Amino acid sequence: MVVRLNEKDAPKIVVTPPGPKSLELMELRKKHVPKAVYNVTPIFVAESKGSLIKDVDGNEYIDFATGISCLNVGHGNPEVVKAVREQLDKYLHLCFHVTPYESYVRLAEKLSTIAPGNLEKKALLVNSGAEAVENAVKISRRYSGRPTIVTFEYAFHGRTRLAMSLTGSVQPYKYGFGPLDPAVHRTPYAYCYRCSFGLEYPACNMRCVEYIRDTLEIHLSPDEVAAIIFEPIEGEGGFIAPPKEFVQGLRKICDENGILLIDDEVQSGMGRTGRMFAVEHFNVVPDIIALAKSLGGGLPLAAVIGRVNVMDSVHVGGLGGTFGGNPLCCVAGLKAVEVAQQLLGNAEKLGKLLTSRLREMYEKYEIIGNVRGVGLMAGVELVKDRKSKEPAKEERNHILTGCHKNGLIIIGAGPYKNVIRFLPPLNISENLLNKGLDIFENAIRTNPAK
Ligand SMILES: Cc1ncc(COP(=O)(O)O)c(C=O)c1O
Repeated sequence: MVVRLNEKDAPKIVVTPPGPKSLELMELRKKHVPKAVYNVTPIFVAESKGSLIKDVDGNEYIDFATGISCLNVGHGNPEVVKAVREQLDKYLHLCFHVTPYESYVRLAEKLSTIAPGNLEKKALLVNSGAEAVENAVKISRRYSGRPTIVTFEYAFHGRTRLAMSLTGSVQPYKYGFGPLDPAVHRTPYAYCYRCSFGLEYPACNMRCVEYIRDTLEIHLSPDEVAAIIFEPIEGEGGFIAPPKEFVQGLRKICDENGILLIDDEVQSGMGRTGRMFAVEHFNVVPDIIALAKSLGGGLPLAAVIGRVNVMDSVHVGGLGGTFGGNPLCCVAGLKAVEVAQQLLGNAEKLGKLLTSRLREMYEKYEIIGNVRGVGLMAGVELVKDRKSKEPAKEERNHILTGCHKNGLIIIGAGPYKNVIRFLPPLNISENLLNKGLDIFENAIRTNPAK
């Protein structure tokens, strides 16, 4: 198919979205797909390329959502597509457990090499972020012989039973799906804008870290704790970027107690923050990393990367799956990693532009209570009033819809449903980034609650 999207005219709204074709497809969707499978926009897509999406009614949008951070290398990245096309003519599926193939091993080699830490690592390939998290926990329990996993408020780790047990918010993720995994203990994250202890950074002396120490003294026995799992920047939880001391404190606690540190890079990894792994900003080396989303360059692929002695603590046959590291996904992943590595400088540079424009908006619009993030992983938290910090939930939805109607695909986050997240491709042009931000600013300006 010839892709006709071009940056010069973008975005282009020819009929107010959702147009008639999207509406028709939405009716079909309502009839055949369960309502629980949510949609953020009612817009059905015809094609996408780079940073642009065209809908079935001919509207063109700038994409700041990238399929929830799965397209760091852009829609239909030519190098990824070429690798997949070449693979299509060779073989589609073999199952690595039955007849192995080179691309799986090469990708495992690549990931083990680029993951932080000057130590030997190995990587297991799976299909989704939740599956990577499940396996990371399985491995940590097997290695340590301990059951308990410490996780954080507002965390999101996926929708399978164990992953949702680790996830913070009950609605909509866990509601009615119990019983959940019993050996999960939750503790406050360094959400400094709404500190769980009512303190202010840095005067707080990292109470949230010290609280984990107290917990290991009073509520949990360290020799029953297998791992602490954390996101270096909480994603669904509202793009919460903690202070350096928080992540460094977790590492220290783990070291003191023989606990493994599992770093969930599903959303923050693959160059999103200007480093391949967000944890690199904290100068911390985790024991296990869960990676997914952008790893497959648009195809479903995930990985668990860890220290050799940890990964090899599991008996033969204890890990795997039919489709994990599917050949098409592996060749796509090899290219996606290579391209993302080349885009780190761009992510850092454009990340500065993004946050400086968001900070300018903070100065102008009272509704913006907080601007935060690292690189091209930025979020704004909207409040009705800066003093009370009452979440501006309806206003957030109004702003999102305003963006969609004017040619910007952008999504929300946060436990209070009042955060807007910015996840453009790492190779978006400055021009499109600015145009998208203009649409966002206009939606804030025209929001009745400003
Ligand atoms: C940090 C994090 N972990 C895990 C997951 C689950 O990934 P998946 O939806 O691929 O199962 C997500 C998804 O948004 C995520 O953001």
